Amino acid sequence: MTSPDLPAELKAALDGKLRGFSRSDAAGRAASISKTYRGGGNSGSIRSETDALAYALARMPATYAAVTASLNALIEIRPDYVPGSLLDVGAGPGTATWASAEAFASLHHFTLLDANDALRALALDLARDSTRLRNVGYERGEARAALAKADAAELVVASYMIGEIGEAEQRALAELMWAKTRDTLLVVEPGTPAGYARIIALRAHLIGLGAHVAAPCPHDGKCPLEAPDWCHFSQRLQRSRAHMQVKGAELPFEDERFSYVALTRAPIASRPSRVLAQPAASKVEITAKLCTPEGLSLAKVPRRAKADYAIARRWRWGDAVS
Ligand SMILES: C[S@@+](CC[C@H](N)C(=O)[O-])C[C@H]1O[C@@H](n2cnc3c(N)ncnc32)[C@H](O)[C@@H]1O
Repeated sequence: MTSPDLPAELKAALDGKLRGFSRSDAAGRAASISKTYRGGGNSGSIRSETDALAYALARMPATYAAVTASLNALIEIRPDYVPGSLLDVGAGPGTATWASAEAFASLHHFTLLDANDALRALALDLARDSTRLRNVGYERGEARAALAKADAAELVVASYMIGEIGEAEQRALAELMWAKTRDTLLVVEPGTPAGYARIIALRAHLIGLGAHVAAPCPHDGKCPLEAPDWCHFSQRLQRSRAHMQVKGAELPFEDERFSYVALTRAPIASRPSRVLAQPAASKVEITAKLCTPEGLSLAKVPRRAKADYAIARRWRWGDAVS
């Protein structure tokens, strides 16, 4: 399992960038970018070097943690998956590239693409001293046009990106990303009902084109959850001092809620059930909401079933269990 916390090389690169900047300026820009997001805006408000750094300090730890948790879930289902090439769509500061490089020692060819100049410049700066990432290719441009020109990759990732484009475009982008996927496509979104709705629409569309789900679902059928319920997970991450200062936060950690889907070209041989919420433990039993190959199930494991109870006590939200 890869740690959800930023790798030391990336932390050091971010700290190095911060040295030349005023933390209060960065905090001010981060607050204004967050306000834009809360008001339904997107990363279009990130224009300057300070904007890009403020975004990276405030959001990169959490999006990194969400991508890492999704990759950990994928690796648990496919421990023999060893991708050599990565395409990071809407790469921004390079978050998913760093997470994928940590998760897969096999990756050696990295292509990033994004339309935002300030985030691209920051990504290249952060990767400059990295042994594995200093030679990444980073294409500047609108995603569909840049993707059309890109080589296919064994792993394609779009992290916190598809929500920034319109619905009709999302379908076209999903098709194009799938066409450029030699093995696995991972899409990660915020763990909100809207983020889940985008994931579920992309999932259904690409299953129709022959994709199979590796994680989180244990089946390729229709999602059994019904509104107001939605499928999402939570990853805890540590906040650095700079992260806390830029966010004006007091707690040394945060919990990032995210939704994701990992789709593969080859069918998955065996798919365990997925824990959909933190299980409840009482004196008599453990109750866990599971997504199983046959649909939703509320598993109740009584204390008297000692061996099963001991196993169920270790279940956590997001785990794959059989
Ligand atoms: C919220 S940021 C996420 C960045 C990064 N993937 C991460 O997880 O930290 C969304 C990124 O998608 C990029 N993006 C949005 N729409 C795009 C488009 N049509 N073409 C290229 N990039 C786009 C933005 O420029 C931005 O860098």
